[in-house]
Amino acid sequence: MTLPELTARVSQQFIKIYGRHPRWMAAAPGRVNVIGEHTDYNDGFVLPMAIERYAVMAADKSADDRNVIQVRDTADGVEPAMIDLSAPVEPGMPKWGNYPRGVIAGFQARGIKPGGLDVLLHSTVPLGGGLSSSAALEVATATLLEAVTGKTIDPVEKALLCQRAEHEFAGVPCGIMDQFISVMGRENHLLLLDCRSRQTELVPMNDPSVALLIVNTNVKHELGSGEYAKRRAQCETAAKILGVASLRDAEPEALESARSKIDEVVYRRARHVIGEIERTLYAAEGIRASNWLTVGNLMYASHDSLRDDYEVSCKELDAVVEIAEAIGVKGGVFGCRMTGGGFGGCAVALVRTGDVKVISEKIAADYKRQTGIEATFFVSRPAAGATILKG
Ligand code: GLA
Repeated sequence: MTLPELTARVSQQFIKIYGRHPRWMAAAPGRVNVIGEHTDYNDGFVLPMAIERYAVMAADKSADDRNVIQVRDTADGVEPAMIDLSAPVEPGMPKWGNYPRGVIAGFQARGIKPGGLDVLLHSTVPLGGGLSSSAALEVATATLLEAVTGKTIDPVEKALLCQRAEHEFAGVPCGIMDQFISVMGRENHLLLLDCRSRQTELVPMNDPSVALLIVNTNVKHELGSGEYAKRRAQCETAAKILGVASLRDAEPEALESARSKIDEVVYRRARHVIGEIERTLYAAEGIRASNWLTVGNLMYASHDSLRDDYEVSCKELDAVVEIAEAIGVKGGVFGCRMTGGGFGGCAVALVRTGDVKVISEKIAADYKRQTGIEATFFVSRPAAGATILKG
């Protein structure tokens, strides 16, 4: 569904639920990371793109003038979040409401007061699929509040406000990639983001002969955020031993010469990060030159490193990547890797556009045979970042 179609549908649903037209609407996309995984919180580089899957929010002033933001979800059986603005906003129940709560608290902290609202949320970003459904929800909330209050926040500040919501209200010590790309995505471009300086560079990705195929393994292992926090801590330990501010500053040779002083697991974590930062820069060059073979090989190398050194893959993601690799360039696959935090979710494959259907069918059949699970597939062009749709 295109964004205009989605907008029309959410507007209709708002009318059905609240009995009047929405006055404001906003959308923010999910993302797929092409390469640069677990590098953002190490001050490294990432290369994501926004996808044509969105969290859309529609709103009007609350019907009864209460100082409460009521957020309903279009999905059946989801408990609405009632956010009372008469006191400082704090984490609460239902849990999913903590994403909008955290963003609203960020606005309050800046002295911006949206007032009571009736809000409807509809998201087409698969939940728990490693495609940043939570960042899309945070950024959609922030964009909606910008529309409501008429106060625009600088894009970098806005991404950081949303990241803070995730840290403080959802308890996930994430990096800055997801919120940045959801705010700053550009149609037909990947975003090369330097997570240290926060400088961004748009990398054109508009060769119609290739496509990014997203494969959802439809598994999510509950190792999730605990393991994420552990990886972050291990990276910090490695940086400390190497005497650098972050692994961004560590040279591969320095890591090798310090190997005997470093715990074996911590050593492998650092090896992943240092290698991945380098691969990301090479991949950006490869994309600029339409050198798809090189980019594909870097994606495979990234996956191997995430599987063996960083240990954030799982057997389902490995199965997808192995099947894709077996199809190979002859069959139209240049490269494939897990994307996002890991432990389930999605893989991303760089493929020849004309072969998307055959490749998807082959992966679906072999994956089902190996795991008993149905994978789901979609292709997305690089999409634009968050927008105000109405108001
Ligand atoms: C999650 C986090 C990001 C990033 C990725 C791994 O998506 O939210 O900040 O660390 O994992 O690259």
